[in-house]
Amino acid sequence: MNRSRRFHAKAPDMVAGMTQSHPRISKAVIPAAGLGTRFLPATKATPKEMLPVVDKPAIQYVVEEAVAAGLDDVLMVTGRNKRPLEDHFDRNYELESALQKKGDASRLAKVQESSDLATMHYVRQGDPKGLGHAVLCAAPHVGDEPFAVLLGDDLIDPRDPLLQRMVEVQEQRGGSVIALMEVAPEQIHLYGCAAVETTEDSDVVQVSGLVEKPDPADAPSNYAIIGRYVLDPSIFDILRRTEPGRGGEIQLTDALQQLAEDEKIGGPVHGVVFKGRRYDTGDRGDYLRAIVRLACEREDLGPDFRTWLRSYVAEEM
Ligand code: UTP
Repeated sequence: MNRSRRFHAKAPDMVAGMTQSHPRISKAVIPAAGLGTRFLPATKATPKEMLPVVDKPAIQYVVEEAVAAGLDDVLMVTGRNKRPLEDHFDRNYELESALQKKGDASRLAKVQESSDLATMHYVRQGDPKGLGHAVLCAAPHVGDEPFAVLLGDDLIDPRDPLLQRMVEVQEQRGGSVIALMEVAPEQIHLYGCAAVETTEDSDVVQVSGLVEKPDPADAPSNYAIIGRYVLDPSIFDILRRTEPGRGGEIQLTDALQQLAEDEKIGGPVHGVVFKGRRYDTGDRGDYLRAIVRLACEREDLGPDFRTWLRSYVAEEM
């Protein structure tokens, strides 16, 4: 393993500006092999990532986000019942030729958009043994480079870019970078939670420890881990040794905890504190909020939809 290309155990102020020796991050991994039980029965035969948010499947926003951050090599980790994900990012010649015959150029462009977005690759996670295991399935494709992980059911509002900033922080400081969001203390048991120290950048913290879904009384902070990561490839060796943790699953948070504990393994772990809009589209309430918010902002649908929403709220609420 060519470790000399990466930074190890350097103080943030020492590495600032030393961006030249880093390989540019170009690969994004999107784990999308989970069962989606919170959304049953909709997800019995349809992947939750394919549920539409306005008129695009949730997963397309995620791939668009990776591409907007400069990562156009995308590996999706899929599983049984996830075939529609591959079809969505592939050409559909029959549909394209039907639209062409009709002269419907705008719908044709919409159909072609998803297949032209990125260079897509797929790997199957035979058994959904947890997020850490899904990330490990990406090891042969990623190799020895830092890479990004975007959870397929976590939607970051396209107006509040997060991944670009995380890539920038990783290029400046090396190691791994996770995305954090402050949540109410009573919500922290739903997330991985980070113990943090401040840095000279107001939106960046150094992560000194991580714990998956803690009881509020044991939580080291109210910084919750959300579904974006830029990871040092040393995570793969750690994941290979990580035993199943909470829920009997191989937890990415457990592996990251080892990185945070010992900088010598793969550099420091930093967190970018996100204050923008984010939706967990695997959660029914958040899914509905995502649709309403994004529909309100749309130029084509927004004006009518907002008018209707105002009168609905005035009359019904
Ligand atoms: P979730 O915790 O949301 O689990 O996974 P889930 O199975 O998808 O959904 P619920 O909780 O049963 O409704 C977080 C992310 O990790 C992926 C999921 O696809 C999702 O993007 N994941 C999880 C995998 O790819 N493989 C796994 O084994 C577990």
